[in-house]
Amino acid sequence: MTQTAPALGTQEEIDAEMAAISAGRDPTYVETQPRLDYPPYRSSLLRHPTKDLHPADPEGIELWAPVFGERDVDPIEADLTVQHDGQPIGERMVVTGRVLDGAARPVRRQLVEIWQANSSGRYIHQRDQHPAPLDPHFTGAGRCLTDDEGRYSFTTIKPGPYPWLNHRNAWRPAHIHFSLFGTDFTQRLVTQMYFPGDPLFALDPIYQSIVDPRARERLVASYDHDLTQPEWATGYRWDIVLSGGRRTPLESEVEA
Ligand SMILES: [Fe+2]
Repeated sequence: MTQTAPALGTQEEIDAEMAAISAGRDPTYVETQPRLDYPPYRSSLLRHPTKDLHPADPEGIELWAPVFGERDVDPIEADLTVQHDGQPIGERMVVTGRVLDGAARPVRRQLVEIWQANSSGRYIHQRDQHPAPLDPHFTGAGRCLTDDEGRYSFTTIKPGPYPWLNHRNAWRPAHIHFSLFGTDFTQRLVTQMYFPGDPLFALDPIYQSIVDPRARERLVASYDHDLTQPEWATGYRWDIVLSGGRRTPLESEVEA
């Protein structure tokens, strides 16, 4: 028996659902993380947890600090523009910031990984087949270790927005995926960094699934002209907090 996919909703329908959720939130309650069951984000309906999490003994899961990869991190892995023979197309940019714990202490010498679409909004991934060009000079993945101040820095290309199938004419704001390890496993964090002033913020159910505007704005980098390098690259700054009440919001369960 063949199954036909359900018809996709419209942006107007998604907007109305998001507005109703936003209007119903308790503004006195600081809701810093995304709602895992957020109906405008269609696939969250089936994929969110329906049972309570199992309590785990933190001592038991923190016996060992995280260990990463099969080889050391090479500093060149922090530059996503030099992984091929030629220069990738797009806006060259530097993104840097500090990784902090809940007490604003630097998280030192820990792994930061990023992955992203190219300047056309296309990933090198089998499931991304939308008609935007791949760039033979851009893979879109990098990693680095934080320094003694908890600082990370990447040189990359500004990603483009891309379509997805949440609803008809659905587009994700431009973003870079970040994976962070801290000094224990409870600090593990996977999230997305956005760019200031993106016109798609109000339309995006992943961004809006963090219903507190102050919390979701913590995912938006700031443009920093002092970081911008003449004739070379624009600069963005974004700090990440791994724990505590100012924790950077997590990515929702499903990557998009
Ligand atoms: Fe993405």
